Amino acid sequence: MRRVVCPGSFDPIHNGHLEVITRAAALFDEVIVAVSTNYSKKYRFSLEERLAMAKETFASLSGIIVEPMDDGLLAEYCHRRGASAIVKGLRSALDYEYEAPMAVMNRQLSSVETVFLLGEARYAHLSSTMIKEVMQLGGDVSGYVPRGVLRELKS
Ligand code: PNS
Repeated sequence: MRRVVCPGSFDPIHNGHLEVITRAAALFDEVIVAVSTNYSKKYRFSLEERLAMAKETFASLSGIIVEPMDDGLLAEYCHRRGASAIVKGLRSALDYEYEAPMAVMNRQLSSVETVFLLGEARYAHLSSTMIKEVMQLGGDVSGYVPRGVLRELKS
């Protein structure tokens, strides 16, 4: 069984994440969406809220499970969970520059590979940060987030 991990803060999960994760699910037997907490980041949503939104998003899709990722190394988490690869979406060359050293380090730490999927061009500008800002300033983000996330952003 080919199990992979899609890690991220998902604060909140948006349609760019959704697109990459569903494509990963078509390629591999099982995708673990690992919701992480990076203590140097300031989150809008708690871990429980980020998990709940991701779980609701993927509830009807088989082969995708959502769980919290502990505070340690991603490479060790993948090893413990029996995942042979990490899947990350790339929006641009900037993402590649940021991700490439981490991919090498993760492989050196525990032989876990990183598979990059190029995100759809229509989501290339999307980030959770931008969605939160547009929402806060009264813009319409309904085309960019799953329905449950829109509900939480409005509440
Ligand atoms: O959505 P984010 O916040 O950019 O996700 C970041 C994530 C979870 C991928 C990153 O924080 C991470 O890799 N955390 C694990 C810590 C770790 O293993 N650090 C060494 C990386 S080489």
